[in-house]
Amino acid sequence: MPTRFAIGQQARMGIGLLLPQSGTYAGLGHAIANGLNMALAKTGNRLAGREIRLVVGDDGSNAATAAAAAQHLIQAEKVDVLVGAVHSDSAQGMVKVARDTGIPTIIANAGWNAATGASCASNVFRTSFSNWQVNWPMGKVALDRNYRRVATITWRYTAGTEMIGAFEENFTRLGGTIVQRIQMPFPQMDFAPHLAALAAAQPDAVMAFFAGAGARQFITDYAASALKGVPLLGPGFLTEGARDLPAAEGILTTLHYANGLDMPVNRHFRAQYSAAYGRSADVYAVQGYDSGQLIAQAVETVRGDTNRAALIAAMETARIDSPRGSFVLSKAHNPVQDIYLRQIRNGEEIVLGIAQRALADPAPGCKVK
Ligand code: PHB
Repeated sequence: MPTRFAIGQQARMGIGLLLPQSGTYAGLGHAIANGLNMALAKTGNRLAGREIRLVVGDDGSNAATAAAAAQHLIQAEKVDVLVGAVHSDSAQGMVKVARDTGIPTIIANAGWNAATGASCASNVFRTSFSNWQVNWPMGKVALDRNYRRVATITWRYTAGTEMIGAFEENFTRLGGTIVQRIQMPFPQMDFAPHLAALAAAQPDAVMAFFAGAGARQFITDYAASALKGVPLLGPGFLTEGARDLPAAEGILTTLHYANGLDMPVNRHFRAQYSAAYGRSADVYAVQGYDSGQLIAQAVETVRGDTNRAALIAAMETARIDSPRGSFVLSKAHNPVQDIYLRQIRNGEEIVLGIAQRALADPAPGCKVK
C-alpha cells in the first residue's frame, strides 16, 4: 500500500494576510486579498510543490491591533510569510513584529515612508509605494499647470501627513505657495466646514489625500461646495474607487498604476480579475497580485525551501512583471517605478503620461541600503 505522504513531500506553506476587516479601508483589503489569490491560483495554489495555506488576520487600521494580529499569525498559525497592512499605522505595528521576529514580510499597500526608510529591515519588502513616492511628482505637475497657490486637506495620520508633506516639499521648492492646510481626524467624513475654510483661501487648486469610502464622500462634497470648478489634485487613491461619480470629472492624480495602461500584462490581468470577481481591478488588487507574484517567484527560486535567508535573498533580486509595468526593488526594498499622471474624463481614468519615470524613494536613514 502506498504511504499517505510521498517521501520528500514538504509541509504546506503558510501565508499570513493582515488586512482591515472593517471600516473605511475594508474594501481596499478585499481587493488586495483578491489580487493575491489570483496570483496564487495561477500555480494551482501550490508553489514548488508545496500547498499554500492562507490565514487572515485583522490589521485594525492601527498599530497595536496589527502587531497583536501579526504575533498571532506567526506564533499560533506558524505562517512562513506575512503580507498586508493597508493603513500606515498598521504597517508600523506589523514592521515592529517583523523586525523582532525576522519573518519575511511584504507590505501590500501602506505607504509609511520609514518602512523602507529609517525603519527598513532585511526581511521587510514593499510591493506598493511609499507615501513620498506617489505625491512628490505632483508638486511639479501643479506648477506646470500654473497652479501657484494651493490649499491642502487630508486625514491627520501618518499617510496623510507624509503624502501631503511630499507634495508640499516639491511644490514649495519649485516656488509654489501653500495658502491653507487642513488635517482632520481619521476616518472622519464631515468635510463641509473644512471645504468652506479652503474656499475662503481662494486657491488656484486643492491637493487632497483620502481613500476608500472617505474619498468618495470627499469628492461628492467637494463638487457641492464653493470649491466647485477649482481644480482638484491628489494621489490616485482619491479616484481609484470613484471614477463612476459625476463629481469626479476632471480630477488630476499621480499614481504608480492606472487602469488604462495599454500593456498586455495589464489588459490580461484586468480581464482575468473581472471574470473572477465580477468587478474591475484597482491599484489595491494590483498590489495584492504583485505580492503573490513576489512570493511565487522567490519560493520557486529556492525550490520550496522557506529558509528565511534564502527566501529573502530571492525576493531582493526579483523582477516583477506587474500590470503597472515591470519593476525591481530598491536596496531599501521599495519598488522603483514610474509614476503616472491620470485624469478622469467622461467617467474614465485617462493616462496623460508619466509624471516621473523610474522613481526610487530616497529612503533616508535606511541602513541596509
Ligand atoms: C496608508 O495608510 O498608508 C494608505 C491608506 C490608503 C491608501 C494609501 C495609503 O489608499
